[in-house]
Amino acid sequence: MQDAVLRWYDEHARDLPWRRTRDPYAVLVSEFMLQQTQVARVAPRFEAWLERWPDVHALAAATPADVLREWVGLGYNRRALRLHACAEVVAREGWPADAAGLRALPGVGPYTAAAVAAFAFGEVVAAVDVNQIRVVTRVCGLDDAPPREVTARAHALVPADRPAAWNHALMDLGATICRARTADCAACPVARHCASAGRVRFAPRATPGNGARPRFEDTDRYVRGRVIAALARGDALPSDVGAERLERALNGLARDGLVVRDGDDVRLP
Ligand code: ADE
Repeated sequence: MQDAVLRWYDEHARDLPWRRTRDPYAVLVSEFMLQQTQVARVAPRFEAWLERWPDVHALAAATPADVLREWVGLGYNRRALRLHACAEVVAREGWPADAAGLRALPGVGPYTAAAVAAFAFGEVVAAVDVNQIRVVTRVCGLDDAPPREVTARAHALVPADRPAAWNHALMDLGATICRARTADCAACPVARHCASAGRVRFAPRATPGNGARPRFEDTDRYVRGRVIAALARGDALPSDVGAERLERALNGLARDGLVVRDGDDVRLP
């Protein structure tokens, strides 16, 4: 099964800019950006970021305001501050040696730690995200197993000689063939070894509160993004969202350290 996956990957790998490097800093930047933003939107921003701040020391020397300005449009701006905080720690103390050490960095959870360890250090660990959980669950027939068991199986499956390629391969398999709502088993390189081939169970579509998802423009996150974008450009705060929503967004942003309020003055940190 591992050979089949890796052979498929060698032929079909998506050529993504962060896959051409083993620099832990570049990998960390890519993984922070990819936490909640799509591959196609991240790629150009990743390259611009590395041109501006080529290493942790450069990023550590930037101000939080600069970092937020560069992040505009990627969304979930707290990620930018956490990435900056990581750079400060690593610039001071050096890189941790492994996934366990990476976990101690700000905003780095088990997935991101394992991704950096596998891609940059060649550590034999699984970067277990929802895609990897789904693929491993299906291939190994673990639909009724507790998540802990699926995660353990994911780690056990990583081939000792190609951990980076393996994790990338499962990401690509999950993104292009073994998808959440459709599984193209006919095109799948591991169908022969898969417990679910041709009879995949599809999880019900997740709908918050079983109602319709609110329009993005009606969310606080939308207003927060508008505020950060306006401050980054040096523009006035958005006035079309209503005073109450604006106030709520400003309070949340100040609480998260994304803006500083000083009387009526609001600025990036
Ligand atoms: N999502 C998170 N990390 C990724 C990677 N290295 N390649 C593609 N998609 C990803």
